[in-house]
Amino acid sequence: MIWASGWKLASAVSNAGGLGLIGSGSMYPDVLREHIQKCTLATNKPFGVNVPLLYPDIDKHIQIIIEEKVPIVFTSAGNPTTYTARLKQHGIIVVHVVSSSKFALKAQDAGCDAVVAEGFEAGGHNGREETTSFVLIPAVCEKVNIPVIAAGGIANGRQMLAAIILGANGVQIGSRFVASHEASSHINFKNAILNTAEGDTILSLKKLTPVRLLKNEFYQQVAAAEVMGAGKEELEQLLGRGRAKKGMFEGNLSEGELEIGQVSTLLKTIQPAGEIVSEIWQQYNRLVGLCCE
Ligand SMILES: Cc1cc2nc3c(=O)[nH]c(=O)nc-3n(C[C@H](O)[C@H](O)[C@H](O)COP(=O)(O)O)c2cc1C
Repeated sequence: MIWASGWKLASAVSNAGGLGLIGSGSMYPDVLREHIQKCTLATNKPFGVNVPLLYPDIDKHIQIIIEEKVPIVFTSAGNPTTYTARLKQHGIIVVHVVSSSKFALKAQDAGCDAVVAEGFEAGGHNGREETTSFVLIPAVCEKVNIPVIAAGGIANGRQMLAAIILGANGVQIGSRFVASHEASSHINFKNAILNTAEGDTILSLKKLTPVRLLKNEFYQQVAAAEVMGAGKEELEQLLGRGRAKKGMFEGNLSEGELEIGQVSTLLKTIQPAGEIVSEIWQQYNRLVGLCCE
């Protein structure tokens, strides 16, 4: 996750038994290399790198990932045919994030090893189709025969079990880890996440790249511009450069872009990432036990 998951969060999740991912989308190439090297020192367990295919510097990121021998790459926000074959030639496992069963099939055809089916509830960039996880997970599971990792609206063991019952083989969790000690997100943003109510997030900027945002002054400016009929260029100008950094990393809650999922309304504390992983596992295992009695 941009401005949230550096080596500290990724290694803490991997050390606790999850698969930690470094979010390369907010990193310059040399910063990414440093995070990979620090993560390698901080954990003996596997970890991966998430690569949003839309971002500049993508070629350099892919080269660094290959050079540093990262075993797993999650790609998102772009065409899976562009880099999958090259990564796989180097023995790297490739997982692509999709928001529809059509794109899931495309990822399978491109040779991806698994897909993340990310529903409309999720924080960050999201599909225009607005398909919720409850519909998307079974739809994708029916379409492809590679493993499906569910994402969007999952923050506890109960929700994880629901995703598995819907057909998923695993889950990807974002928002809950933004509210972790190890996330590099600003403390103002972490605290704001704990205070969200239902309806406080919305899928915005659909004319550019749709993204789920916390409703703040910046969002209100976007909404007002959209009502006045603003086109792509005007919205791009309003967004400007560095909005996401300003909000999520620098803690400017009114002028920054604040990406978070609907599930933030269920989050009540900022915890160590390892504690989050074990809480989710424990609740999941307890419920599985109850189901099987
Ligand atoms: C602050 C934030 C930044 C994110 N950045 C990325 C990203 O760079 N690449 C990506 O594939 N997904 C990104 N996501 C989406 C997450 O990887 C994950 O799929 C999503 O958060 C799952 O839904 P949830 O928020 O309901 O847990 C981001 C999510 C958040 C909240």
